[in-house]
Amino acid sequence: MRRIEIFDTTLRDGEQSPGVALNAEEKLQIAHQLGKLGVNVLEAGFPIASPGDFEGVRRIAQEVRNVGVAALARANAKDIERAWEAISGGESPRIHTFIATSPIHMQYKLQKSPDEVFEQAVQAVRLAKSKVSDIEFSAEDASRSDVDFLARVFTGVIQAGATVLNVPDTVGYATPEEYAAFLKAIMERTTGIEKVKVSVHCHNDLGLAVANSLAAVGIGVHQLECTVNGIGERAGNAALEELVMALHTRRDQFNVETSIVTSEIARTSQLVSRLTGMMIQHNKAIVGKNAFAHESGIHQDGMLKERSTYEIMSPSIIGVDVESIVLGKHSGRHAVQQRLADLGLELEDSHFEELFSRFKLLADRKREVTTADLFSLVDEQKEKTDQINLDYLQISSGTHLVPTATVGLMYQGQRLADAACGDGPVDAAFKAIDKVLGTQGKLSHYSLQALDGGEDAQGEVTVSVKFGENLVAGRGVSTDIIEASVRGYLQAVNRAYTRGWIEIKQ
Ligand code: KIV
Ligand code: ZN
Repeated sequence: MRRIEIFDTTLRDGEQSPGVALNAEEKLQIAHQLGKLGVNVLEAGFPIASPGDFEGVRRIAQEVRNVGVAALARANAKDIERAWEAISGGESPRIHTFIATSPIHMQYKLQKSPDEVFEQAVQAVRLAKSKVSDIEFSAEDASRSDVDFLARVFTGVIQAGATVLNVPDTVGYATPEEYAAFLKAIMERTTGIEKVKVSVHCHNDLGLAVANSLAAVGIGVHQLECTVNGIGERAGNAALEELVMALHTRRDQFNVETSIVTSEIARTSQLVSRLTGMMIQHNKAIVGKNAFAHESGIHQDGMLKERSTYEIMSPSIIGVDVESIVLGKHSGRHAVQQRLADLGLELEDSHFEELFSRFKLLADRKREVTTADLFSLVDEQKEKTDQINLDYLQISSGTHLVPTATVGLMYQGQRLADAACGDGPVDAAFKAIDKVLGTQGKLSHYSLQALDGGEDAQGEVTVSVKFGENLVAGRGVSTDIIEASVRGYLQAVNRAYTRGWIEIKQ
């Protein structure tokens, strides 16, 4: 069976989702998991974009092995030099350079003639080739480009040394048949196309990203670009898990295979959701909470008689397993350690001891400590690098009271505290945090849900907060929903602080 490569751009295009701001540590964690998932290439970021992006890409290139690491660069010398600086220490580095080729982008955005764009593309690939052998060239807005012009650009960049040609549907405008026909025409008209790999990169503005990518598989493309949970610019990119499971489940139709370890899909999806703060919709294909849930009586009856009546793939194939041992306040170190190992969350001894004491505190507050709770405990541990931490929280609220919050925070070894009133206890607590720190966060999204089923589930709060022009997400979990809200807000504050978007006034 033909092998198709998976190029994951969660850390680049996915990270461009509004509100997502990952630090280098978080990017590295996701990159390691993408390695376990078995992607062929991971796009680690856009090094010229910021010092933080550069550092994230550099560390991933140095520390993540057995997977290609790509860095994005516009088609100019400065970007390419910076991208190369970031990935040169890697095992299999790839420079990914791009320029727009559609009339609308060339005329209005670039304000360049087609000949100038052609020249710039070829020069960029030539420069990149002088540094590394693996060069991907993307024609931004390819699907709205003139087919003959695009074939001319592709022919030129192949001669200059490109090894992968990407045909993005940048604005998610294409339809499957149209996109397949366009790809076919490009492949027929580009000289030297047989020497390179052809890649597709589809956005989801019309909800067609996965369908368009799958249509391209039928044309014989070699690489699919996608993101975990389909996150990305605007409506996002083709979702990795949907592409992979469609190819796997319907291999009778597609006749291709990937190198993805499907049992790592659920874990990867959860990790990306937690660290980006982007919740997964319940009915999301493959990784949504309801993707394998059967509600109606008729369906449940069918399932009990024969699973294949309503189940086209088993949850275990994506790594969703039914837990056999219930963890609670009577569970010992060994049981907790074993469950963490099963979840791929091995910790060093000293970290484990700390986590175990927090596990015991949590188990005192709720009957069962679930997988989601464990993931949260591990996350909290990782967030120990936060500069601003919650020390204490006191709320007074009720039907005849003005909601008031007093918040104590630890910052640079000092305890800072203040109080504020608000429309409700959460609003009061957020205002108190801003008062303590001298920040001015504007809440643009707030959601609260139970972390998982059961009456003693922890509350999980996700927030998006605007600091000036910058939107940043945060997530907090606790048995107390006000505390969860405060923790979510503080995560957003910490992310904004790390990125230099806010200053703390003491
Ligand atoms: O959507 C797009 O065109 C891109 C390119 C940079 C590949 O993300
Ligand atoms: Zn894109």
